[in-house]
Amino acid sequence: MAISYTLDRYVSDLRTITAEETDPVKITDLVAPLAKKFAQSPELRRPEYRECDYEQGFGVHLLHEEPNHDLAVFLISWLPNRGTTPHNHKTWAVVVGIEGQEQEINYDRLDDGTKRGYADLKPSGEQVMTAGDIARCYPEHIHSVWNVGKDISMSLHTYGRHINYTGRSEFDLQHRLEKPYVIKVADDEHARA
Ligand SMILES: [Fe+2]
Repeated sequence: MAISYTLDRYVSDLRTITAEETDPVKITDLVAPLAKKFAQSPELRRPEYRECDYEQGFGVHLLHEEPNHDLAVFLISWLPNRGTTPHNHKTWAVVVGIEGQEQEINYDRLDDGTKRGYADLKPSGEQVMTAGDIARCYPEHIHSVWNVGKDISMSLHTYGRHINYTGRSEFDLQHRLEKPYVIKVADDEHARA
């Protein structure tokens, strides 16, 4: 039987990469194939990772973060026809589809970001992620994610820093607002034990 690529090995590789590189483009180039390999790990098939948060629309399962909140790895499960507002990350990100169909809509920012709380965004493209597909985000990239399938979808998310600790934003397109974006992370520490 093939030895699977474990969370411990993945995190060890993330540490090596980020110790040697600081450019988000180079980091995500190196992380992407490893994230795709780790997305196939049997470790990610626990039933508790499929649990979604009905209020939020998606369940955020933290697999790893460093003590200073760097190198955060999440498994996120999305309810059908639910998703996120447009948001940025203020860190690099690599996302791999595990199952289902997640639509990503990208946005361009038209204003210069100097007026506090104001943001004028324009959709600039979209694609649908399915199992094995990889998406990368850079710190200022703005997108929204929506489960467009009939069943739950799941994806593996790796960030340079835990996204509740980057000072990132969500955006209200209609009212042209920018506000702090903090997501609810599932209380499933037992699952990581
Ligand atoms: Fe995102």
